[in-house]
Amino acid sequence: MNKYKIAVVVGSLRKDSYNRKLANAIVKLAPPEFSFQQVQISDLPLYNQDDDVNQAESVKRLKNEIKSAQGILFVTPEYNRSIPGVLKNAIDNASRPYGQNVWAGKPAGVIGTSIGVIGTAMAQQHLRNVLAFLDMPTLGQPEIFIQAKDGLFDDAGNIGADSKQFLQNWMGKYIAWVKKHAA
Ligand SMILES: Cc1cc2nc3c(=O)[nH]c(=O)nc-3n(C[C@H](O)[C@H](O)[C@H](O)COP(=O)(O)O)c2cc1C
Repeated sequence: MNKYKIAVVVGSLRKDSYNRKLANAIVKLAPPEFSFQQVQISDLPLYNQDDDVNQAESVKRLKNEIKSAQGILFVTPEYNRSIPGVLKNAIDNASRPYGQNVWAGKPAGVIGTSIGVIGTAMAQQHLRNVLAFLDMPTLGQPEIFIQAKDGLFDDAGNIGADSKQFLQNWMGKYIAWVKKHAA
């Protein structure tokens, strides 16, 4: 059991974040051989290349969490038609120093929810561009663009009935993707 450890990176620091709720709910649709751990990105320093020779403890912690994971799940809001700066900052911190990019080779999934009707489509597209450069095999289909509205979650914080089948199907594909690409 828990053969596959997945690091979950949520691109919002907001206390009542819909994306954190989505991250908490979707992992319940995975089989028991998968465990999911949200990584902390709120205490990372703003990336500064001068710090490459002496990375902060929080950066080392993040890098170790990513290294020890068999896959990564990004759950991100869309900010101004792109990814939030806090998410990019986390990605940049763990990609350096040059030659020590811990994201490389980790199978990734990208999902997100926003209050806008395009449901983070542009943010996800920008994120995919970054992940391609970082050499992460990223699940292409199905895509998940979710508008955050009433009924997305039930009272217990689970995925609501209308979206459950759709997200269950996505999780099945993500599980297969991680199994195929995990080292
Ligand atoms: C700085 C900022 C920019 C935003 N830009 C977008 C946007 O481009 N597209 C969109 O659909 N929603 C946008 N929103 C609204 C977000 O979808 C909404 O705040 C959402 O709740 C953020 O996700 P979270 O609940 O996980 O924090 C923006 C919100 C903020 C604070």
